[in-house]
Amino acid sequence: MAFERTFSIVKPDGVARNLIGKIVARIEADGLRVAAAKMKHLSRRDAEGFYAVHKGRPFFEELVTSMSSGPVLLMVLEGDGAILKWRDIMGATNPAQAAENTMRKLYGRSIGENTVHGSDAPETARQEIAWFFPESEIYTKN
Ligand code: CMP
Repeated sequence: MAFERTFSIVKPDGVARNLIGKIVARIEADGLRVAAAKMKHLSRRDAEGFYAVHKGRPFFEELVTSMSSGPVLLMVLEGDGAILKWRDIMGATNPAQAAENTMRKLYGRSIGENTVHGSDAPETARQEIAWFFPESEIYTKN
């Protein structure tokens, strides 16, 4: 499996419910490491830019409102097969369809408040990481 980086967000609903520790514990227990982390209260403009690929979709306005409703935890995760591994830990986008013991099944409240975000492919991972983290803030170990 290739050594990869992926991007993750603990969304406002997760931070507000004090779930950071549980989510990071699971990330580490499943063999990924946190290579960068910071909290940030996204502005509407930040959220619109980050999710620009979804602009025009019916849920875009609600997504931007919810992502800018409170602070988030932004992280770069790394490890073997990190992109797929983090997606497996998160579970399906809609918590109602997420597998048992995934973050979204355990903690998600709705498709809009699904607690965590993760990159879906290597190119998006690179773009999403670069949106928030200069290389000098990422502490790689390999
Ligand atoms: P996320 O993985 O952060 O990527 C885009 C987000 O849009 C997604 O999680 C959901 O929280 C949100 N969203 C809201 N409605 C939908 C929908 N119908 N389909 C996909 N994503 C949605």
